[in-house]
Amino acid sequence: MKQNDDVGRNFVINKEPDVASATQVTRIIAKDLGFSTVMQMMIATTVSELATNIVKYADKGYITIGCIRQMQQLGIEVIAEDRGPGIPDRVKALSDNISTGNSLGLGLPGVRRMMDEFLMDSSEGYGTKIVTRKWKPF
Ligand SMILES: Nc1ncnc2c1ncn2[C@@H]1O[C@H](COP(=O)(O)OP(=O)(O)OP(=O)(O)O)[C@@H](O)[C@H]1O
Ligand SMILES: [Mg+2]
Repeated sequence: MKQNDDVGRNFVINKEPDVASATQVTRIIAKDLGFSTVMQMMIATTVSELATNIVKYADKGYITIGCIRQMQQLGIEVIAEDRGPGIPDRVKALSDNISTGNSLGLGLPGVRRMMDEFLMDSSEGYGTKIVTRKWKPF
């Protein structure tokens, strides 16, 4: 059973500075939860990549950060949600070096590798929801 704590933030993302502030606050939350410096970077980079995608491809959306618990383990959950065009080809979007934005195409596959859990729910025309989680090692 997953249980949301009172530690959590919701960010409206619609332009570049929103990406920076969400990334910075996430880093502080991850630090406060006791994640290592490397893990703080991974979690903050996840927010940066997902929020950048929102600005680039969906125009506007939301990032939600929450503290999660499972048994004795503590973790952080990052949810990115938008009502943009959606991702028609899931396999391509999660492949290295494939981009529709003339970019490196490493954002989503990188996030998937850095985080412990990665769920993507997207359909063309309805938007995109990505849920990622990172657990603190015991
Ligand atoms: N929120 C989104 N809405 C619609 N399409 C998206 C969204 N996020 C990603 N995509 C699509 O998935 C592709 C892969 O995303 P990814 O972040 O891996 O690469 P990128 O943004 O193109 O490049 P990079 O992140 O390396 O700068 C994008 O090129 C885009 O087509
Ligand atoms: Mg990207």
